[in-house]
Amino acid sequence: VAPLKVGIAGLGTVGAEVVRLIETQARVLAGRSGRGIRVVAVTARSKAKKRSLDLRDVEWARDPMALATHPGIDCFVELIGGAGDPALSAVEAALNAGKSVVTANKALLAKHGLKLAKAAEKHGGALNFEAAVGAAIPVIKTLREGLAGTGINRVYGILNGTCNYILTRMEQEGLSFGECLKDAQRLGYAEADPSFDVDGHDTAQKLAILASLAFGTKVAQSAVYVEGISSIAPEDLRAAADLGYRVKLLGVAVRTAMGIEQRVHPTMVPKSSSIAQVMGVTNAVTIDGEGIPPITLVGPGAGGAATASAVVADIADVARGIRANPFGRPILHLRDTKKAPMERH
Ligand code: HSE
Repeated sequence: VAPLKVGIAGLGTVGAEVVRLIETQARVLAGRSGRGIRVVAVTARSKAKKRSLDLRDVEWARDPMALATHPGIDCFVELIGGAGDPALSAVEAALNAGKSVVTANKALLAKHGLKLAKAAEKHGGALNFEAAVGAAIPVIKTLREGLAGTGINRVYGILNGTCNYILTRMEQEGLSFGECLKDAQRLGYAEADPSFDVDGHDTAQKLAILASLAFGTKVAQSAVYVEGISSIAPEDLRAAADLGYRVKLLGVAVRTAMGIEQRVHPTMVPKSSSIAQVMGVTNAVTIDGEGIPPITLVGPGAGGAATASAVVADIADVARGIRANPFGRPILHLRDTKKAPMERH
């Protein structure tokens, strides 16, 4: 079988690690996929930047659009980020050309997921985005495939590594919000614009994606109530601790009689609860299914290596020929957020 030919747009921390993993894990990946995976072309803002990658046999495309429509690639990997262009038009072009797309771009999916899923469905390519939520934690796969036969009542958790890292260090070391944020940026956890992290928008984007998978609703960040952590001070955390609580930024999507409620806000959780034990950059997602006890997935929610691991797993699925519906079911069957309770799985 011919190898899967991959084009990668964006060679930052994640992109460079993806190229490395495809090379170092080549035998394992070929064993799992039944075929080889080859990076044939890339594009990045700067070609000159030092990356310690061997790209001698790899073509440099002029820009993301040229790469997305490159006749020599089967799978376009978008690691540019941002809800608009150039990521949006490049992903659309790749899907319209019948290629598969792997992306880590939660902002893009939370805003344009429906349109992109439609293009994937129409032209037959896969649209995989495991890395968009919880980095290395296989939460998309769990909801989309593992729990395909189970009705979901609630999905909630800690979905932003930067915020959890900040809250942890503020509580444990009494550091200021600003100092902790600077460290999160230095460690590569924060978004390019960290207000997306601390104001809760990153969590809202991830929650909108999870809600769509859990409840079969049309993905829409605009349906999420959002409140961030930027006004929290070490004294607030101490006051909560005195009462036996810890403060966590939670994203919650729950089935109610009125529809699917989606919200993001700082929440006091009892110190003895399992969610209170989740510290640092770790993420945790709990899924309440019908008739089964809750399932909790815990792991690294941010960082280059953790994100790259999920991207490579998605590429391996494309190589194997897996074409799951991006949001778990055909576009026609997706419901508006408020109508969702009428439909049971
Ligand atoms: N800025 C994000 C976080 C990166 O801190 O969780 C992973 O999506």
